[in-house]
Amino acid sequence: MKFFADTADTAEIAELAATGLLDGVTTNPSLIAKAGRDIMEVTREICGLTRGPVSAEVVALDHAGMMREAEVLRKIAENVCIKVPLTIDGLKTCKALTGEGTMVNVTLCFSANQALLAAKAGASFISPFVGRHDDNGFDGMQLISDIRLIYDNYSFQTEILVASIRHGIHVLESAKIGADVITAPPAVIKGLFKHVLTDKGIEGFLADWAKTGQSI
Ligand code: G3P
Repeated sequence: MKFFADTADTAEIAELAATGLLDGVTTNPSLIAKAGRDIMEVTREICGLTRGPVSAEVVALDHAGMMREAEVLRKIAENVCIKVPLTIDGLKTCKALTGEGTMVNVTLCFSANQALLAAKAGASFISPFVGRHDDNGFDGMQLISDIRLIYDNYSFQTEILVASIRHGIHVLESAKIGADVITAPPAVIKGLFKHVLTDKGIEGFLADWAKTGQSI
């Protein structure tokens, strides 16, 4: 399963990239606003921090506007993946861009039928938002299972990119279901390394080692 960082904070991306475990980055208009930086400048910098896909989202709502914005964004770097919303115009744009060899991430997916449409439109990635799904009284992980089943039934190549991840259980369940990618805030990814018994174990080993008076 691939790990993408869901952030436009370049310091956090650089820190995760240094672990060698980062496979890509996703951004959206809210994350760009949070970073407080110019979209072109920050996206270019992010594209230099990872070889993997970097999702940059269009904000136009009509097909022509999305194509215009995609043209600007995809020139930033070879690894830019254009993010479009799951609307008729978004999927029309997805079909056109993937036909030209540009990666497309279809975002704001909240149903398996929407995911089916995105796969038919040739999306490189589908982004179901599990956290927001849960927040609204639905079962986010059931949505991922349903999409996995449908994509496997028809051998769709669209990768399931689990988004709106809030905690480690979302990551664990995604891996058990066989999602292709998770995108999570850096704090959630860093939290995966942690276990209280690992810390306690290190503490015990170091205390015993100190008693030996040795060094390596
Ligand atoms: O990439 C978009 C998605 O991950 C948003 O997450 O936490 O705002 O629901 P959230």
